[in-house]
Amino acid sequence: MSISTRLTELLRIEHPILLAPMDIISDGRFAATVSRAGGFGIIGGGYGDETWLARELDAAGDARVGVGFITWSIAKRPRLLDSVLERRPPAVMLSFGDVRPHAQKIKKSDALLICQIQTLGQAKAAVANDADILVAQGAEGGGHGISRSTFPFVPAVVDAVPHIPVVAAGHVGTCGRRRIPAAYCGTAFPKNGAAARPNYCSIKMKKRIAMQQPARTVISTLPL
Ligand SMILES: Cc1cc2nc3c(=O)[nH]c(=O)nc-3n(C[C@H](O)[C@H](O)[C@H](O)COP(=O)(O)O)c2cc1C
Repeated sequence: MSISTRLTELLRIEHPILLAPMDIISDGRFAATVSRAGGFGIIGGGYGDETWLARELDAAGDARVGVGFITWSIAKRPRLLDSVLERRPPAVMLSFGDVRPHAQKIKKSDALLICQIQTLGQAKAAVANDADILVAQGAEGGGHGISRSTFPFVPAVVDAVPHIPVVAAGHVGTCGRRRIPAAYCGTAFPKNGAAARPNYCSIKMKKRIAMQQPARTVISTLPL
């Protein structure tokens, strides 16, 4: 069964699943396999080996795959981005840092710009530089990371940039593989939907939940 979202339409894919551009691990064959299965594979251009990247793009053949770069690495090797754009990939991803030096070059090539971000400030900066898709990476994510956990961070990004499709990253696939049979919710009930009506929960409590700020969350210890 395919799932249609704003992201699947933009990337022209069947399933809203992306292969992260894990340096060297996400090679051409791997990315092509994900794309041919209906997701979107992104080759890991991470630390910038031009010969490796050219070989892996060849290995992907006619599969629609993207290429992911780390911003500070590509800044040292701008020629690498040019060589990839010459091949007209459907999307290029920039991760971890200042996207400004590269964003417009990618947009001019007609590739979609995907930005992997870890703070709300980075999310807004990416959108200001015409990002088409954001990958919101929580602290659980493998590789480089900052601090906020995936579950609270991803909806905060969606709220901050509601017109941009946001992809969740950070232990997402690991959860799903275990076929967890149900979700268990606390805050979501008083905060959202019919249960948010005053007669289900005091207005004072609702206000306190609505005003929550990540930096002020207090985790109490258990008397064990
Ligand atoms: C081994 C490894 C290498 C990674 N290398 C890169 C990389 O080169 N560029 C990049 O944008 N992200 C890289 N990432 C991070 C991914 O883009 C993504 O945020 C992360 O894998 C998501 O978390 P998960 O691994 O728990 O699913 C890497 C992740 C791992 C585990």
